[in-house]
Amino acid sequence: MPVTIQQLIQWKQQGRSIVSLTAWDYITAQLLDAAGVDLILVGDSMAVVLGYETTLPITLDEMLYHAKAVRRGVKRALMVVDLPFLTYQESIKQAIHSAGRVLKETGAQAVKLEGGYPAMVATVARLVQAGIPVMGHVGLTPQSVHQLGLRQQGKSEKESDRIFQEAVALAEAGAFAIVLEHIPADLALQITQKLNIPTIGIGAGVHCDGQVLVTSDLLGLSEKQPPFAKVYTNLRQIINSAVQEFSTEVREKKFPQ
Ligand code: KIV
Repeated sequence: MPVTIQQLIQWKQQGRSIVSLTAWDYITAQLLDAAGVDLILVGDSMAVVLGYETTLPITLDEMLYHAKAVRRGVKRALMVVDLPFLTYQESIKQAIHSAGRVLKETGAQAVKLEGGYPAMVATVARLVQAGIPVMGHVGLTPQSVHQLGLRQQGKSEKESDRIFQEAVALAEAGAFAIVLEHIPADLALQITQKLNIPTIGIGAGVHCDGQVLVTSDLLGLSEKQPPFAKVYTNLRQIINSAVQEFSTEVREKKFPQ
């Protein structure tokens, strides 16, 4: 049975953790989906496979191109696509246009956008009114890297209060879930207890309703990982060995046999 937004909310109520990972291509999406991942995010962390330093250069067309490939690989998971930098911040009209293209052209069920400041909350409310499901994202928001850096957010009482209020406001605006990135675990716990919608943590401790990782970090494919990522296998090493073995066999005329 395909995962639905209502199902995610039910899982929160039942205390069943939500498993989420990123995918940017058909093969990865197919593998994650078959492995039972609940929510597949076409994140703008895709910057790492496109060779960008930050998520800022990613365009909507790049997201659409990759999201269409992911869609072809996903049968069960709920699919969410990031709206890239400056494709939704300018105006509500721009946000509806960009999010509408994502839903219409890729077949994804929802979009994710960053920030919980008042104008973004208004944007989320309007998208939801237009029938576009929205996932929020607060704490460390990588599209604001030049303002925030990549440090943990919500360490001071003032910052912590702001992030808490942003999460509450996004939920009230109709977001169906919220990513909490790189914030203290006790703040994530407070937000998770307060909201009726699921929180999906990344570097936010164990108390969130679900966890997300960037798949290339989990697989050890990224050149460097954030401190909170867990590397479950080292595909860079495995790929390097396989390529070395192939090269040797070609040079020694052992392949093809
Ligand atoms: O872009 C992304 O992959 C994300 C996750 C880290 C949540 O936003």
